[in-house]
Amino acid sequence: MEKEVNRPLSIAIDGPVSAGKSTLSDALARKLGILHLDTGAMYRAVGLYALENGINPASEAALEEVIGNGWAAVSLEYTDGMQITLLNGQNVTHRLREEAVGAAASAVSRYPAVRRYLVDIQRQLARKQSLLIDGRDIGTVVLPEADVKIFLTASPEARALRRYTQIISSGKKSDYPTVLQELIKRDSQDTSRKHDPLRPAEDAVVLDTSALSFEETLSKLLELVEAKRDRKT
Ligand code: DC
Repeated sequence: MEKEVNRPLSIAIDGPVSAGKSTLSDALARKLGILHLDTGAMYRAVGLYALENGINPASEAALEEVIGNGWAAVSLEYTDGMQITLLNGQNVTHRLREEAVGAAASAVSRYPAVRRYLVDIQRQLARKQSLLIDGRDIGTVVLPEADVKIFLTASPEARALRRYTQIISSGKKSDYPTVLQELIKRDSQDTSRKHDPLRPAEDAVVLDTSALSFEETLSKLLELVEAKRDRKT
């Protein structure tokens, strides 16, 4: 097949919460010399808007009003290859990892008005440049034509343990059973929602990282991308 010289490269990485998508995607994108688009941060920004403005993130009508009126404008910038997420022009990156913001993101992400708005921005960005995009619906909805599709997963127990260790090492208190319970709840919300639920694309490579270290996973991901790239050229 002839190589399309000017078409940007797109790599889709989907998977459940705490599968390590963000950190692995950051590292992989750096190795490949392309930008990483963290789409979860965009849903989190809309969730943050709801929390900060007394809007119920579980109210579809309220979210339709927010999006329809352009009250929660999400945009992105990159500094030294790192994504900066802006909400109405303000850098909100440092707020997005809060637990409450994650829960609000999961709630607002159920609604088509929110999804259409953010998916549109994601597609526009991917048209302009080579990107590694991580999320829940990248291989299935945002970029079904992506060059490489990976579904990164691990057992709920392994993911909960990683999340718990992360929280403890950041100096905060946590307990493993609660983290596991929350994670199972989030999985169920993300996989059972009506619009664009989390699932692997039919042509995605599923990578279970339960028994793999960060470095092992990263080198497997690099192998997968290089193999697909070679097959395309
Ligand atoms: O990846 P994350 O934990 O930052 O995502 C936060 C929430 O956003 C998650 O519960 C599901 C939702 N999300 C989504 O629906 N579609 C995406 N492409 C990315 C995230």
